[in-house]
Amino acid sequence: MAQFPQDFAWGFATASYQIEGSASTGGRGPSIWDTFCQLPGKIRDGSSGEVATDSYRLWKEDVALLKSYNVNAYRFSISWSRLIPLGGRDDPVNPEGIAFYRSLIKELLTNGITPYVTLYHWDLPQGLHDRYGGWLNKEEIVKDYVNYAKLCFDSFGDLVKNWITHNEPWVISCLGYQKGIFAPGHKSNTEPWIVAHNAILAHAYAVKLYREQFKPIQGGQIGITLDCHWQMPYDDSPENIEAAKRGIDFKLGKIPSHDPIYKGYYPERVKQIIGDRLPVFTEEEIAVVKGSSDFFGLNTYTSQLVREGGTDETNGYTTVGHTRPDGTQLGTIGAKNICVVSIAHPPGFRSLLNYLWKTYQKPIYVTENGFAVKNEHQMSLAEALRDQDRIEYFEGYANAMLQAVTEDDVPVHGYFGWTAVQCLNHLMNTHRRADGYEARFGVTYVDYATQKRYPKESALFLSKWFPEHIKT
Ligand code: NOJ
Repeated sequence: MAQFPQDFAWGFATASYQIEGSASTGGRGPSIWDTFCQLPGKIRDGSSGEVATDSYRLWKEDVALLKSYNVNAYRFSISWSRLIPLGGRDDPVNPEGIAFYRSLIKELLTNGITPYVTLYHWDLPQGLHDRYGGWLNKEEIVKDYVNYAKLCFDSFGDLVKNWITHNEPWVISCLGYQKGIFAPGHKSNTEPWIVAHNAILAHAYAVKLYREQFKPIQGGQIGITLDCHWQMPYDDSPENIEAAKRGIDFKLGKIPSHDPIYKGYYPERVKQIIGDRLPVFTEEEIAVVKGSSDFFGLNTYTSQLVREGGTDETNGYTTVGHTRPDGTQLGTIGAKNICVVSIAHPPGFRSLLNYLWKTYQKPIYVTENGFAVKNEHQMSLAEALRDQDRIEYFEGYANAMLQAVTEDDVPVHGYFGWTAVQCLNHLMNTHRRADGYEARFGVTYVDYATQKRYPKESALFLSKWFPEHIKT
């Protein structure tokens, strides 16, 4: 039987605001998500991360759950405002926050689970947004982010060897500052490019610091996680073939992230459309940005059929869908959610892994992948636990990844289902950003009234499938 190498990492991923709760306790300061959730109409079902899956209190139980799922790795994010409540380099540090994450990390290690830690999963301290405009202010935010990163390396780096600077810069910039549907809710056609630029600089300078001051002693790796879905032409017309290429270029290069990081420049197709709104890196900056990721962190949920035309410049004026010209669907379709609709189309995943390896030549970690079953939030507990569509999705994707590794020689080093805790999206049903609790990812059902966790059948499937397919 084909198997992944012995050191293949597998587990689940989560994000602080989506699972922790205890938003106003333990010394935590507010983030832009706390503020955003209070704006009427911003979250579909009116919920917030005030309680979420209560994982700040139930962390030991969650680690035990992970252990029962036979994982060997867990990806979670640190809440910046739990460590530095006001966020800035001259602001006080919260010792309770440090103690919380150290306990969590130690508990994971005691249980044989390797931590993969994301520094920034969208929850900017509100203090920095109020003080100087947060991500819009290059001079300040880069320094404050690097200071926060240093605090994390100092406080946890003896135990943590896998760092991810940002989760999905496209979401930080486009959903937060162009479409206005994520915190802080701005609508602008210039700000997203500035924000993305500054986020990438913050990433790059944190990596520089890690490589110069921490890696030689701590010996870990550091990179960034980007979101990308496989894009195929809708049909074989030349304009749709070109549109699919442009779609991928925009997905991978539009935010000054992927191509500058891996290649040192923006794709031509992107420059042509965004023009002088795309900030220019100085010589010194691009020297720090280029090569600033040890791996390609990939969040991916679907495949898309691309057609020429459309009104959204952030897609490079393309239109995406999942219905083929003959009316058939690419695969089983998941619940609609604000980021993306998951579609069970494993061949697209295999093609994407091949494309990324050929293009960027970096080992790949699939830092998120998962499926929200349609109408799961309206199901009874018993119905929700029988999540056959999710199993079909995971089985297809896991096998496609295995083929990419064993037949195509693509170096995928790890895989994380979304979420541990719905959200615990994939491990459980966590608080989902602007969708509130409606689009339910996650392999563990959470009864939000009692916070009791119930493994879904997909949890049992994955906890058997991965150990069987990793060499011992
Ligand atoms: C992307 C994000 O990283 C995560 O926060 C979100 O909940 C999932 N994917 C599902 O949309």
